[in-house]
Amino acid sequence: MKISANIALTLDGRIAGIDPRQRLGSKLDLQRMKSLRADADAVLVGGRTFRDWPLPYGGGAPLINAVLTNAGVGAHIATPLQRWSDSRVRLIVLTSTKNVRDEKIACPELEVVSTPTPTVAWALSTLEGLVVDHVLCEGGGALLGELIALKRLNRLYVTICPKLLGEGALLFDGAVGDVSLQILNSEKQGDEIFVSYQCTYLPEE
Ligand SMILES: NC(=O)c1ccc[n+]([C@@H]2O[C@H](COP(=O)([O-])OP(=O)(O)OC[C@H]3O[C@@H](n4cnc5c(N)ncnc54)[C@H](OP(=O)(O)O)[C@@H]3O)[C@@H](O)[C@H]2O)c1
Repeated sequence: MKISANIALTLDGRIAGIDPRQRLGSKLDLQRMKSLRADADAVLVGGRTFRDWPLPYGGGAPLINAVLTNAGVGAHIATPLQRWSDSRVRLIVLTSTKNVRDEKIACPELEVVSTPTPTVAWALSTLEGLVVDHVLCEGGGALLGELIALKRLNRLYVTICPKLLGEGALLFDGAVGDVSLQILNSEKQGDEIFVSYQCTYLPEE
């Protein structure tokens, strides 16, 4: 299964401002995000990102939206689900078994897949079981860091946004796995730079 990630990054290394719903990228960045989604079978996000953006992550074609969460997201989804849903988007919450009841109470129609102790590796194998060939991770940094630590991230798309926020979430706030990034393409459009990287990893010794 191919795994890509797409992230908008400020010049001071942030992926969100004090208001996490502040968009960092331009309309063009939004268009690019949708075209990356069109190339994927599933969009994977962490619970924190979903609680900030509890909307369908759609691209026009049928798409799975998977949310990996311990804290739960059911209470953040407008119910009944059809009011929230884009009919082409299938929302699946990947969570701990102990959360299933609360998620179902908050949003009865929600599709929930659970395991006693969720991990990113489990989330990926669950998606593989749903015949997903290409996962696009849309963050945030915590989830992205875990994909790199697992040596599973293949392709990274970064929009470098001409912003200095000074405050807000950094892409990474701790150690990151050992990954080597080779530029595949870079393109300046307006004041933004769109860069795609191939990720490679040293084999285990
Ligand atoms: N600029 C961008 O392109 C961009 C993209 C995405 C997000 N963002 C923003 O970046 C900010 C920071 O996001 P972040 O990096 O903290 O968040 P994140 O990666 O979305 O979320 C981390 C969350 O993912 C869930 N998670 C991660 N590993 C898990 C595991 N093994 N088992 C179960 N759940 C797991 C947990 O959700 P629970 O808390 O639900 O347990 C955890 O809090 C947010 O404000 C977000 O909106 C920006």
